[in-house]
Amino acid sequence: MSNGSSNIASSFSDNIAEAESRAEQTRRALLLGALATTACLGCSAPVRAGEDPPGSDERPQKGDVLVFSEGDREGKLITAADLPRGGPPVHAWPQDPKTSVVRSGSRLNELLIVNLDPASLDDATRARAVDGILAYSAICAHAGCPVTAWVKSDVGDIEVFKCMCHNSEYDPRAGAQVVFGPAPRRLAALPLALAGGSLSVAGGFVGKVGGAQPG
Ligand code: FES
Repeated sequence: MSNGSSNIASSFSDNIAEAESRAEQTRRALLLGALATTACLGCSAPVRAGEDPPGSDERPQKGDVLVFSEGDREGKLITAADLPRGGPPVHAWPQDPKTSVVRSGSRLNELLIVNLDPASLDDATRARAVDGILAYSAICAHAGCPVTAWVKSDVGDIEVFKCMCHNSEYDPRAGAQVVFGPAPRRLAALPLALAGGSLSVAGGFVGKVGGAQPG
C-alpha cells in the first residue's frame, strides 16, 4: 500500500473511532438523564406516601380545633355538645384549622377532653376550665402508656382517669393530680377556649408531657 492509501485508511479509522466515542458519550448522557429523572419523580410533592404531613407532629397550637382520635367519629370535629357532663372523657387530637392537618404524628399529642360540674373542680382547675370542660394529655406521667380508663378510684368515691399499665390514677377535678399508683406527677393540662359551642386550644401544654421512665 502506498503512503497516500495508508494515510487515508488511518484517517478513516480515526473518524470511525471518534464517532463511536461520541455515540457512547451520548448514550451515557441519555442514561444518566433518565436515571436522574426517575430518581426525582415526586420530588416536588409536599408529602410522599406513608409520610406524616408537615405540622402533624408539632405540639398543639393556639387556635387548633379538636377532633376525635378513635371510634366511629374518628377525625370529626368535637364540640361541647359531644361531651357528656360527668364524663366519660373523649379522646382527641388537635387539628390545625388552616391546613386541616391532624397533629397525630406524635402520640404525645393525644388528649383527654372531659366535661365536669364546675362546682366539683378545685379553684385552680375551675379557673382554667371552660364551662366545666378540661383537656389533659392522654399520656401517663409514669412510663408513657396511654391513659385509657375512666373508672371509680381505688381511693375515693369519684371517677378518675386510670392508666392500666401500672394503675396510676389522676383526678381531673384537681388538675389531674395523682391520687393512686406510681406516677410521679400530674398529667399535663391544655388550656381551652369555647365560643358558640366550638372548642379550640387556647395555649400550649402546662406541665411536662410524657412518661418519666421507660416502660
Ligand atoms: S405507665 Fe401508666 S402507670 Fe405506669
